[in-house]
Amino acid sequence: MTIRNDAINAFEAHVSSGKVAFFKRFGMDFVMGARQGPWLHDLDDSKTLFNLHSNGGVFNLGHRHPVLVNVLKESLDRLDIGNHHLISAERAALARDLAALAPGDLDYAIFASGGGEAVDLAIKVARAHTGRSVIISARGGYHGHTGLAMATGDAKYRQPFGPQPAGFTQVPFDDLPALEAVLDDTVAAVILETVPATLGMVQAGNAYFPMVRRLCDRAGALLILDEVQTGLGRTGRFWGFEHFDLLPDMVVIGKGLSGGLYPISATLLRRPLEAVFHADPFIHISTFGGAELGCPVARKVLELSARPEFLSHVRELAQRFRDGVETLQERYTPFLRGLRQLGLMMGLELQDDLCGPILSKCAYDNDLLMVYANNAPAVCQCLPPLIMTFEEIPWVMERLDRALAAAADFREALG
Ligand SMILES: Cc1ncc(COP(=O)(O)O)c(C=O)c1O
Repeated sequence: MTIRNDAINAFEAHVSSGKVAFFKRFGMDFVMGARQGPWLHDLDDSKTLFNLHSNGGVFNLGHRHPVLVNVLKESLDRLDIGNHHLISAERAALARDLAALAPGDLDYAIFASGGGEAVDLAIKVARAHTGRSVIISARGGYHGHTGLAMATGDAKYRQPFGPQPAGFTQVPFDDLPALEAVLDDTVAAVILETVPATLGMVQAGNAYFPMVRRLCDRAGALLILDEVQTGLGRTGRFWGFEHFDLLPDMVVIGKGLSGGLYPISATLLRRPLEAVFHADPFIHISTFGGAELGCPVARKVLELSARPEFLSHVRELAQRFRDGVETLQERYTPFLRGLRQLGLMMGLELQDDLCGPILSKCAYDNDLLMVYANNAPAVCQCLPPLIMTFEEIPWVMERLDRALAAAADFREALG
């Protein structure tokens, strides 16, 4: 038996039989082996994929960025997880760096391991600070599969799992009248992704976020922005919300903060909100949240991602993707209907809901890793690593061209 087959069999027997069945059915039973930069190799090197998904931003800086790998190695020489009860120089330094990069008085950072956990904490803070319970989120949005984060999401992700926490309301994204209708003095917070990825990379109108901010202020509710995917340079600005004129009360980041190497996430709070923990600073703890080994890696991620030349590289890549997709659109209308884009936060808008899954498969067959938007399958997400080079663009476009040709043919054959 090959190592590859052994891995698949063990995964099937001990991790997820359903996932193995799914990937085998669609001929996508790729097993991650070597990885570097934007590239992933199958365990037996039989296939190589260019990562156009980046795990939603985990691999913003590519796989195994050499500088980050070295920082982690150096951290291993002197640190471990640390102690989540004690004062930590590593967490303090990372929190200070985050505060320096964040606008306004977003001065405090509370660390967690994953995005969902950080969203849970944001909701707890909002409720404790306001003394209110209702949390409003966007229908089709996604903030994670942990307790309170899952409660913000669509029913299909919650239903099998029994009783759900009370006090959650959904409204359509980018719909101010719908928000206004439910935003009363029972609302603790509105939580939104700056660009809802799972909803198909929907781009809000320019007035939306500033108006949401105003409506929240009027109702005395807090505004939480989930920048787990849009933060850290993905949109061509360091924070996604910098594209709009507003200051959120809390910002959640995760994924890319890890450098793809050490799990870490954070909830940034405006200074007055930290008072929630004055009475009992131990009322919220997380054993692995802000584990010290990950802090130097995260600090290096911030340093690399905030450089003006890095952000202008992202914006130039985004322009080249737009140009490339426009050319492809001429060729593949009506299959390819357009590009939803904020920097490199991109979604290919396709003919109908069958097309996202079809294009994901055809992209895979052409060595591109792309994932359709689960709550809007007519959109295929496109999140290349931000470190990809201009020289790689023609190759990616040529493969996307082939994938679109195959996918459009397949869709047509379905009638
Ligand atoms: C916007 C957003 N928020 C939160 C999460 C949850 O993050 P995690 O899977 O690390 O819990 C995700 C994960 O995909 C996400 O895309």
